[in-house]
Amino acid sequence: MHSESFLLPATGNSGAGSRSASAYDRAQRVFPDGVSRVTIERDPIPRYVARGEGAYLIDVDGRRLLDLNANFTTLIHGHAFEPVVSAVERQVRLGLCFANPTEIEIEHAELLCSRVPHLERIRFVTTGSEAVMFAIKAARAFTGRTAIAKIEGAYHGAYDWAEVAYASRADNWGSPTRPASTSNYRGMPGSVLDEVVALRFNDADGASRIIEQHADKLAALLIDPMPSRAGLIPPEPAFIQALTAAARRHRILIISDEVLNLRQGFRGASARHALEPDLFALGKIIGGGLPIGAIGGRAEVMAVFAAGSGRAPLPQGGTFAANPLAMAAGLAAMQALDELQFAHLDALGAQLRKGLRDVIDKHGAPLSISGAASLFRIHPTRLPPREFRDLPMTSGATGFLRELSRHFAARGVLLPSGAAACLSTPMQARDVNLVIEVFADFVAARGDLIGELA
Ligand SMILES: Cc1ncc(COP(=O)(O)O)c(C=O)c1O
Repeated sequence: MHSESFLLPATGNSGAGSRSASAYDRAQRVFPDGVSRVTIERDPIPRYVARGEGAYLIDVDGRRLLDLNANFTTLIHGHAFEPVVSAVERQVRLGLCFANPTEIEIEHAELLCSRVPHLERIRFVTTGSEAVMFAIKAARAFTGRTAIAKIEGAYHGAYDWAEVAYASRADNWGSPTRPASTSNYRGMPGSVLDEVVALRFNDADGASRIIEQHADKLAALLIDPMPSRAGLIPPEPAFIQALTAAARRHRILIISDEVLNLRQGFRGASARHALEPDLFALGKIIGGGLPIGAIGGRAEVMAVFAAGSGRAPLPQGGTFAANPLAMAAGLAAMQALDELQFAHLDALGAQLRKGLRDVIDKHGAPLSISGAASLFRIHPTRLPPREFRDLPMTSGATGFLRELSRHFAARGVLLPSGAAACLSTPMQARDVNLVIEVFADFVAARGDLIGELA
């Protein structure tokens, strides 16, 4: 264990004169908006990181924080996890990338296919977005149909069709029975919107009806079993059953986007929620911290990628697909992620969600908690949301979440700004207790903000 007692206590912001502030000044001159990804949090400026260490990260101003973001849930073993570091070091000396396949990609594929039900064949790509893109294309190539259905508010990366209805708001999301296919950016082609049907999460009847209406053009239902941006809400069994029945009735493929939610268990999230996908999109944890994605699924469907003696129905390639460094890092991370580690994460997650709920009950606060396994989200709403439309988008709710993250940062805990967060294997009960204690202090002290939510 390293001692970090020399480090400064964390504060909510990296203020003027800090090293983060001067880095951000420089960044403004080379990056539009000063950053390379929209998801970088700023309050009002980003916190630049010097290094990570287990469950903690240390910023360039020497502040140490418990990391509940873990690069958007990627680092399930935390930072600088020794087996991953050694595997990458070894691979760096052997070679960074080749135009040839390596044996290590086979080993990684074997591990994943042996664990996840219905994952019979797999192809590695470089990001989760690319995995979603190829899963959708595979469904099109297999069915000969073009459109998809997806969940309103759910995030699936940067492929146009997967971005539809992602940025829906109360003023444009349409009626409850006909969720609108909203565009994600100015100039998004209308033809893309025409090929995507939006469904509301946990709306079994509505989803069945909409799927029926569009069945003859639907190649796939794209579903993340617990979409984080749409609320990090577990699916109700009736919803999974309704989607499955409608899909099977019309030979529509089910794509489970487990880029984020594979971390729900040794067999992944679909197995946990009784979803039986034809195709998967994977990413994040399977790369051990290096860029990765994977498309997988039933052998019959994945055959669209096979050339045989001619041309594959769906050719798929990429300069960095199955990159040896990502394969080495990902294999080491996944090998270390055995059933015991998942049990550890489940126990920590249950302890955390219960502790947070106990605080809410004690104060009768109009707040709720969602999540499963190593994932949790704090909602500024008394009843736990069932779907995206239940998430409050008022200025009171936004202000509450901003102050919550600031309070956590001041106490040395990095809570992502929407209060959707994750745990990692190096965390212990004492880390979870710290999170509960910091939350309890906030709820006790900020009756002013919480009162506005009621
Ligand atoms: C559910 C889901 N799908 C797809 C993606 C896109 O993955 P990537 O950022 O690796 O392109 C993400 C990223 O957060 C995700 O959470």
